[in-house]
Amino acid sequence: MIQTSPIRPLDPDSIAAAAETLKAGGLVAFPTETVYGLGADATNDLAVARIFETKGRPRFNPLIVHLPDLESAGTVALFDNRADALGRKFWPGALTLVLARNPDTKLSKLTSAGLPTVAVRVPAHDGARMLLKEVAHPIAAPSANRSGRISPTTARHVGDEFGDEIAVILDGGPCQIGVESTVVDLCGEAPILLRPGGVPVEALEEALGRTLSVATDDAGKPRAPGMAGPHYRPSLPIRLDATAAIPGEALLGFGPSDTATLNLSASADLREAAANLFSHLHTLDNKNYTGIAVMPVPDRGLGRAINDRLLRAAAP
Ligand code: TXA
Ligand code: MG
Repeated sequence: MIQTSPIRPLDPDSIAAAAETLKAGGLVAFPTETVYGLGADATNDLAVARIFETKGRPRFNPLIVHLPDLESAGTVALFDNRADALGRKFWPGALTLVLARNPDTKLSKLTSAGLPTVAVRVPAHDGARMLLKEVAHPIAAPSANRSGRISPTTARHVGDEFGDEIAVILDGGPCQIGVESTVVDLCGEAPILLRPGGVPVEALEEALGRTLSVATDDAGKPRAPGMAGPHYRPSLPIRLDATAAIPGEALLGFGPSDTATLNLSASADLREAAANLFSHLHTLDNKNYTGIAVMPVPDRGLGRAINDRLLRAAAP
């Protein structure tokens, strides 16, 4: 058997192969000017679930959606004047904007971890831009490292971390910036810095004509990136580890069930369950029910991330 490395130099052939892989629901690691990203088609629930599975992420954090230009970013998120101004000034570049989702978007709910918002970025690296244009779908991509490890800034870092678990790793050379993008939340009246990164805060404040607030936790301490982040809260109470619904409740199943209102995965497939989690919760969270009872999900692999989100959704 011939062993071929998934690392491929950037050229029209490798870009075409990467775009085909993405369109088929597979994962591709690609260079950006900040760090290498682990990309999936952001409109495909199963493909996005695969990102969390491959990274071994213990929870579903919302992911950054990458687009080739400001215009296409407008198809997934709603841009007000401030967002438009920042996009024009800093894109392509190391700035991520958290905005309201465009109601017309076909983005997977898992991409936003069930939130009504979405993080969007137009990267500056030529390889990333060529790939995004070729695939013509929004691409969700966290940094291409296993959960808890440092972000990769060369294709070799990605290859060492994942071996051939990723079909295609596009080699665009070392990342010029080497730290992740700056994340700014523009959903409210005051712009909030969620994560310092490649674009200096001072430059953003100058462009906005005001200072940025820093995200804090409930105790008023600056919120660490990726920690205790925003999360989806259904309006109905959630009851975990249920074997059956009580009258009035919807039953969210896992594994074989004759009584489930909806099933995360009748075949007990954790990737399928992750892909369905947020869309099923959204569907059941309505006035026809008094609550949502959820059958137990095994606490291994993607099940840990599923249970993390279910516990947060169930917290009073
Ligand atoms: O430079 C980067 O941003 C790299 C490259 C690959 O583009 N990507 C990256 O993604 O660092 P990731 O998933 O490691 O970081 C995403 C950050 C997290 O801190 C996440 O909580 C925040 O963005 N984020 C994403 N969507 C959000 C949302 N809807 N609301 C609030 N924060 C969000
Ligand atoms: Mg990361």
